[in-house]
Amino acid sequence: MFSLLLGGLSFATGLVWGRYPSLLQRQFSSNVTYSMNVTDCPGYTLGSITESEYGLTAQLSLAGSACNAFGTDIKDLSIEVTYQSQTTLHVKIYDTANQQFTIPESVIERPAVPTTSFTKSSDLVFNYDASPFAFWITRRSDPDTMPIFDTRVSSLPPTPIPPFNSSDPSTAFDAFPLVFEDQYLQIASALPFGTNIYGLGEVIASSGFRRDIGTNGGVGTIQTHWSRDVGDPIDENVYGSHPIYLEHRFNETTNKSSSSGVLLLSSAGSDIFLQTPPDAKVSLIEYRMIGGILDFYFFSGPTDAEVIAQYGATIGYPTWQPAWGFGFHLCKWGYANISEDMANVAAMRAANIPLEVQWNDIDLYHSYRDFTTDPVSFPGDELREFIQQLAANHQHYIPIVDAGVAVTLNSTDVYYPFSDGLQQ
Ligand SMILES: *[C@@H]1O[C@H](CO)[C@@H](O)[C@H](O)[C@H]1NC(C)=O
Ligand SMILES: *[C@@H]1O[C@H](CO)[C@@H](O)[C@H](O)[C@H]1NC(C)=O
Ligand SMILES: *[C@@H]1O[C@H](CO)[C@@H](O)[C@H](O)[C@H]1NC(C)=O
Ligand SMILES: *[C@@H]1O[C@H](CO)[C@@H](O)[C@H](O)[C@H]1NC(C)=O
Ligand SMILES: *[C@@H]1O[C@H](CO)[C@@H](O)[C@H](O)[C@H]1NC(C)=O
Ligand SMILES: *[C@@H]1O[C@H](CO)[C@@H](O)[C@H](O)[C@H]1NC(C)=O
Ligand SMILES: *[C@@H]1O[C@H](CO)[C@@H](O)[C@H](O)[C@H]1NC(C)=O
Repeated sequence: MFSLLLGGLSFATGLVWGRYPSLLQRQFSSNVTYSMNVTDCPGYTLGSITESEYGLTAQLSLAGSACNAFGTDIKDLSIEVTYQSQTTLHVKIYDTANQQFTIPESVIERPAVPTTSFTKSSDLVFNYDASPFAFWITRRSDPDTMPIFDTRVSSLPPTPIPPFNSSDPSTAFDAFPLVFEDQYLQIASALPFGTNIYGLGEVIASSGFRRDIGTNGGVGTIQTHWSRDVGDPIDENVYGSHPIYLEHRFNETTNKSSSSGVLLLSSAGSDIFLQTPPDAKVSLIEYRMIGGILDFYFFSGPTDAEVIAQYGATIGYPTWQPAWGFGFHLCKWGYANISEDMANVAAMRAANIPLEVQWNDIDLYHSYRDFTTDPVSFPGDELREFIQQLAANHQHYIPIVDAGVAVTLNSTDVYYPFSDGLQQ
């Protein structure tokens, strides 16, 4: 919420420049005309299954003529199912040629290959149909209730479903095949009618923490995942992308409640739909992505806190924070100069309002360039003295450091973070 100018925390686009032909180059060199419609997408057929102690691998082949809806259908896919632990099941569907973007291990280290077999004991069970390929995830302890995740067309509401927004044809659900194209992936799962879904952030959701799934007068959710540096718009994509949801499910027949979690480990731009079509007996989630692979982790919970712990164990826990990090902080975009910072700290003290940490946003810097200070409004020696005074009072100072490092403008322009970085 702090740096309003540059692309602060935006890791999400999944583009690696120079490595693959650009989308435009591909479009012009392939001569494919996109149908812009998934109705005729053929889905996939599963074959060549190899089972192991830890799960299974198999091949998926495009089950008919390419539909080329919004990209080129990828004919050969691989699937790897790994029973990662008692509580965590990994389902990864990727292009066999490995050309689609995958988040590098250097960014998010994946859980190690298990050394214990959980295939017969894990809380979650992977089930599948071979043709057309579909999978569903059940709880071993509760095999007869609705699956936690279920991509079978027969479990989903009948299609075509007309647009929910009559002025936006893309809000229709024409069909629910598995679509895996270079620039478009689509997969849908049935959910219990009106179930409780939390997450799919980062977002300030008008519905509150519980997401609108289109029941009880709700309109449903289209959650875009595409990190961008904007203030605090309601229901829109903002700084971070966290394509994980927690489902808290209550069964009115048995009065049992439980939670589970689903992570799509992807940095691809996407829209995630939560919807309940008119007259449908189930709700649904649909992922529509513009790249990457389908890399799902399922967490069995069964409590909310356990889901979050299982998620953390999979992608890594947050960085340890110093105790003072949990204290009172003050920050805004728009402190005009160092005198304002000083007046601020003094006023807080005079008013007896606790203040552990004073911050500055990137308007502190010379031309918003990280690791500098503005020579007029935040002279380096004055800032240094200010920080020393804070430290003497056991207070702390944080300058926001933007992820974007400025490019030098010309040969007389001196900016070492860029020139040194380029050299290295
Ligand atoms: C695309 O179409 C043009 C015109 O029909 C043709 O000259 C060209 O060779 C085609 N390119 C490819 C990659 O098929
Ligand atoms: C896709 O094609 C079907 C069948 O022709 C049609 O009913 C539907 O409206 C089309 N969808 C869009 C988004 O144009
Ligand atoms: C609720 O539990 C009953 C009895 O086990 C089961 O038949 C039903 O499918 C469950 N409902 C859902 C939505 O899972
Ligand atoms: C419906 O779609 C139009 C066109 O994309 C958009 O401007 C409008 O905000 C949408 N309405 C709602 C309620 O989302
Ligand atoms: C579930 O709870 C309701 C309301 O407390 C109660 O009437 C019903 O008998 C309970 N059902 C079961 C199977 O325990
Ligand atoms: C600092 O900024 C404030 C607010 O714009 C202004 O009133 C004040 O004169 C400035 N002080 C200095 C030393 O530039
Ligand atoms: C080079 O860039 C600096 C900005 O850092 C600017 O002040 C200067 O005028 C530029 N010089 C030329 C010759 O464009």
